[in-house]
Amino acid sequence: MNRLAQGADAPVIVIGSGIAGLSAALALAPRPVLLLTRDGLGEGSSTALAQGGIAASVGPDDTAALHLADTIAAGDGLCDTGMATAILDQTPEVISMLARHGMTFDRDENGHIALGLEAAHSRRRILHARGDGTGAALVDALTAALRTCPSVTVLTGAEARRLTSADGRITGVTVLQDGRARHIAAACVVLATGGIGGLYEATTNPSDNYGAGLAMAARAGAALADMEFVQFHPTALATARQPLSLISEAVRGEGAILLNDLGQRFMADIPGAELAPRDVVARAIHAQITAGRRVFLDARTALGDRFATRFPGIAGLCADAGIDPARDLIPVCPAVHYHMGGVLTDARGRSSVPGLWAVGECASTGLHGANRLASNSLLEAGAMGMAAARDIRDQGAAQPLPQIAQSIAAADPAPVRALVSRHLGVLRDAKGLDAAIEALLPLAQSDSPAADPALVALSVAVFARLRQESRGAHARTDCPATLSASSRQQFTLPQILGLAHDLIAPETALIRSA
Ligand code: FAD
Ligand code: SIN
Repeated sequence: MNRLAQGADAPVIVIGSGIAGLSAALALAPRPVLLLTRDGLGEGSSTALAQGGIAASVGPDDTAALHLADTIAAGDGLCDTGMATAILDQTPEVISMLARHGMTFDRDENGHIALGLEAAHSRRRILHARGDGTGAALVDALTAALRTCPSVTVLTGAEARRLTSADGRITGVTVLQDGRARHIAAACVVLATGGIGGLYEATTNPSDNYGAGLAMAARAGAALADMEFVQFHPTALATARQPLSLISEAVRGEGAILLNDLGQRFMADIPGAELAPRDVVARAIHAQITAGRRVFLDARTALGDRFATRFPGIAGLCADAGIDPARDLIPVCPAVHYHMGGVLTDARGRSSVPGLWAVGECASTGLHGANRLASNSLLEAGAMGMAAARDIRDQGAAQPLPQIAQSIAAADPAPVRALVSRHLGVLRDAKGLDAAIEALLPLAQSDSPAADPALVALSVAVFARLRQESRGAHARTDCPATLSASSRQQFTLPQILGLAHDLIAPETALIRSA
């Protein structure tokens, strides 16, 4: 057994070093924080890969109300308007926090903040840095600030595997480092473990990010919400590289168009065309590819030689694949990009379990509804990291509770990827979802290294099976209509397991309800 801070108050443990974890850890100062992260500081994060930027209604023709209206329209009837208002209202605070930590945004030739356009935004409102290097700039700024923040201790190469609790309250984390498990006591825990793209074969997310925070929270008793809503980005660069490189929506915002290999502009007659909501564009591209076509982004006329200046990072990714976007068509395909679902939280980032907060992509606040509006995610993660820190600062200190670490292996999502990609993709149906549930249920309840990834995937499948409609990013070929009345779903692990059993063995459910 290994204990940290023996004799001293237990630290707040923050798990993950993307924008959510970094913002929370910095905003918690001077309260002692232990930041655990699986790779190096800021590494293995979606944050570092972010291209488009951060949505902020700062343009002269823009207002917070317009930003809210676009967010709600993209969310397809499932946004929590109160939460969306509360989070978007924190936009100025997030931008000034980033600026205070040294982040500088790109400016136009007149010295004004340059504003990009992305799908389903009615105004230019995307602040960006280094052209398309917003995420890298953000990680550089926040990690530099963190390294000089005396209240934060960083533990890298540390994979969090389990939360421990006593009397219904979270007391610490079991961590794997250098192959050894140890328990670290915590005053409270902030999950900031990012998305679930690592469950899929085709994703823009770091491949190891399968939703560890969701599995740990669910096993500790926390409710999960909106798990069925997995966002596919329409335009990943179609190469063999894993994870797939992203071709930012901002490229379409600058006028690039989508063509198939017959030269047809298949989005032309769809409302919004190339800048329709992400789910609409992803499904249109998926339909083309399923019909045997190949799909390309054509930036030759809209950007031409300007491409490399406006999008230097993407130009580099294309060059690695032998493509010159000024002259060549860019082959694209949809890929898993973002998860609207996660650990259910309130406006302070509190989960349903005392002592456990969740922020950033691993949380489900209700901001995004059934479909996230582009570039609202960095904003939400920064806002909620700070909100959780404010809330935790008001909590009392706690003495460490020594506990023996369970022996546990590193998690491995590889065994579930083929199944998840096949049945939980852009289009779903009851038959495929039932097959996924049947295969994932025993794995989720096993001791296998794939148990936690299977548990997260099982939750997506159960939520998706129960939502008998198509809405936002959740498209059911057997239930294509959008129901007139619908609400968010939220379940705890015992409920998810019970529902899974009932779905694959309906006769047992009938006996139980008789
Ligand atoms: P992440 O940034 O993913 O960080 C998660 C952290 O948790 C990582 O450090 C990871 O290593 C760590 N971790 C995971 N599991 C464990 C564990 N078990 N133990 C310890 N550590 C663990 N959104 C926008 O708003 N604008 C954009 O322009 C934009 N572009 C994007 C481009 C790409 C290619 C991708 C993939 C996403 C993009 N998004 C964008 C989405 C956005 O980047 C993410 O939603 C956001 O960065 C999530 O931040 P986070 O801090 O919650 O998680
Ligand atoms: C992009 O640049 O297209 C990604 C933006 C986002 O995911 O919000």
